[in-house]
Amino acid sequence: MNQLVFDRHRRLRQNAAIRRMVRETTLSVDDFIYPVFAVEGENIKNEIPSMPGIYQFSLDRLDEEIDEVVALGIPAVMVFGIPDHKDAVGSGAYHDHGIVQKAIRQIKARHPELIVIADTCLCEYTDHGHCGVIVDGDVENDQSLELLAKTAVSQAAAGADIIAPSNMMDGFVAAIRRALDEAGYIHVPIMSYAVKYASSFYGPFRDAADSAPQFGDRKTYQMDPANRLEALREAASDVDEGADFLMVKPGLAFLDILRDLRERFDLPLVTYNVSGEYAMIKAAALNGWLDEKQTVMESLISMKRAGADLIITYFAKDAVKWLREG
Ligand code: PBG
Repeated sequence: MNQLVFDRHRRLRQNAAIRRMVRETTLSVDDFIYPVFAVEGENIKNEIPSMPGIYQFSLDRLDEEIDEVVALGIPAVMVFGIPDHKDAVGSGAYHDHGIVQKAIRQIKARHPELIVIADTCLCEYTDHGHCGVIVDGDVENDQSLELLAKTAVSQAAAGADIIAPSNMMDGFVAAIRRALDEAGYIHVPIMSYAVKYASSFYGPFRDAADSAPQFGDRKTYQMDPANRLEALREAASDVDEGADFLMVKPGLAFLDILRDLRERFDLPLVTYNVSGEYAMIKAAALNGWLDEKQTVMESLISMKRAGADLIITYFAKDAVKWLREG
């Protein structure tokens, strides 16, 4: 009788110990960055309806959240602010006593060792909800750069360890790098949202940060999800302009882009497991349709496998608890 010839891949899967030995990718607490939302006001801990388990905190309640992050050993937070007042030029974004500046100072005073990353954008601070200045019905690039540079400097002055521009204006890394250097913040790295798609997966975040555009959409500045080569051009520009980290956002629907960047660039790569990705898993889990822990860990390991060094995720606290459980 003819012997069948084939490989026995299952040999390396036969028990948990062997699987552990041949596992190619692992997750660790060091991989995670946890987003936090600071809001003006007192005694506020507002759950975001589309993001169960994620809250907006007023500064007097923020410590409880940050203390938990530190106790879990998560190395970094990404801070977003929701101001009291919005205007056409987003002044709250670059005010010395803006909500984010106050939050950063408070966090750094209490936990100097925690890395605080500032999201540098205007959309939470503009009354029209766009990420820059509006001229003739669209976001004007170069005027917006000036405001973003001011925002970055004020965030660094408040103590931000890393500046993360997310606004998708052309030249934002160059403008922010120059402004930081001129203000003496030569040591503050830029984590560029280099490849940011105009994605529907940001929906829940816009509730959380009250930053939905009041007219139109973000398609003239954020990228078309259909494009792959353009992502390489965007990333190359940011590398040339002096970015220290590159980000791909969103995460799950863009893992191919993350892999493309991994193969081309040697900077640390970050992906943002965005609000809609969180909401989808949460909603299914709350309905009993998916196993939350397994689904989350599979998603996060996929981002690592695709090439991410770091993952910004609303699941960070849960993931660390699950990693500890084993
Ligand atoms: C600000 C910003 C957004 C997100 C991060 N920074 C929203 C947007 O671009 O509309 C989205 C994060 C998320 O969905 O979790 N521009």
